[in-house]
Amino acid sequence: MLAGARYPPATVFAPRSAFVLLLAASPALAQSSQAPIDFNRDVRPILADRCFACHGFDAKARKAELRLDTLDGQRAEREGRVPVRPGDPDGSELIARIESHDPERVMPPPDSQRVLSDAERAVLRRWIAEGAAFAEHWAFLPPRRPELPAVADAAWPRQDLDRFVLARLEASGLAPAPEATRETLIRRVTLDLTGLPPTPERIDAFLADPRPDAYERLVDELLASPHHGERMAQMWLDAARYADTNGYHHDNIRTAWPYRDWVIEAFRRDLPFDRFVIEQLAGDLLAEPDESQRIASGFCRMHNINDEGGAIDAEYRVEAVADRIETIATTFMGLTFT
Ligand code: HEC
Repeated sequence: MLAGARYPPATVFAPRSAFVLLLAASPALAQSSQAPIDFNRDVRPILADRCFACHGFDAKARKAELRLDTLDGQRAEREGRVPVRPGDPDGSELIARIESHDPERVMPPPDSQRVLSDAERAVLRRWIAEGAAFAEHWAFLPPRRPELPAVADAAWPRQDLDRFVLARLEASGLAPAPEATRETLIRRVTLDLTGLPPTPERIDAFLADPRPDAYERLVDELLASPHHGERMAQMWLDAARYADTNGYHHDNIRTAWPYRDWVIEAFRRDLPFDRFVIEQLAGDLLAEPDESQRIASGFCRMHNINDEGGAIDAEYRVEAVADRIETIATTFMGLTFT
């Protein structure tokens, strides 16, 4: 059990990136400490889940002509009442409604099966007290480089990203864990970049490599490995709903692997993103397309296919088009579209 002794299973399942931890823990930060409320991070998820069904984008489902997903809607006066008065939670109808004990008035309505926790009510109250800042949905805001957070232990960060991790740890009264051993490092980075564990020979060579940039060299080697293309393609193929069978009743085999291999090769040869998009959506429609470009357009045919005798062609054509639209929206636009 050499391998077992060297690589305790815990390292396999531990969160691989402190960044994931950072993101996952953020809402708790706003609730537990006095970090200022951030609308998109702390407030929008609560309103979206508990209020937008009746006070959101969908005009047909909207109740009381109230929109809470827009700044105008939040601030619009109605017969003396204003849903959100910045800096004045007690003068805000939203707070009166969520804190009400009257089942006729309390929001969300009891029969909606939606409830707010005390912590969520506190976030909404504090958001309004702090000025009720509003922001468009984060997905539509241009990325902005944030200020580097101040940290107490200035010696620990090696690069800017580390400061964000450390600031969050310090805010929770935690200290960074000691640096992982070289055995752990090679295992993690090899799994990350190739999806495979390192071979015993490669581990021994890494442990015996005295050069100060041995780790950077290992990363370069893994990025150049053919397995890196396979690893990257996995995620895309999931999103593109790649399958070797047709789905539905018989789930018969179809020959789709040339499309799979096209995706792997696209990552291996660093195909520019615009080509990656064009060839999958319409490789077959390019002027004089080559075989590889035709194969790329297999992306459009990864939907389920029903070959049952009684299947109605017109019905399944619509199913396939709907599936394609949904997939294009999620893969290329990062939006659900149903
Ligand atoms: C299932 C539908 C539903 C959900 C979910 C819902 N509401 Fe309402 N809301 C209503 C209805 C219906 C009314 C109008 C009747 C009333 O005034 O009680 C209303 C009225 C209101 C009003 C008063 C508007 C005015 O005229 O002053 C506010 C404020 C409000 N809701 C806030 C919220 C908030 C905040 C949430 C989420 C925490 C929420 N609602 C969730 C259905 C809903």
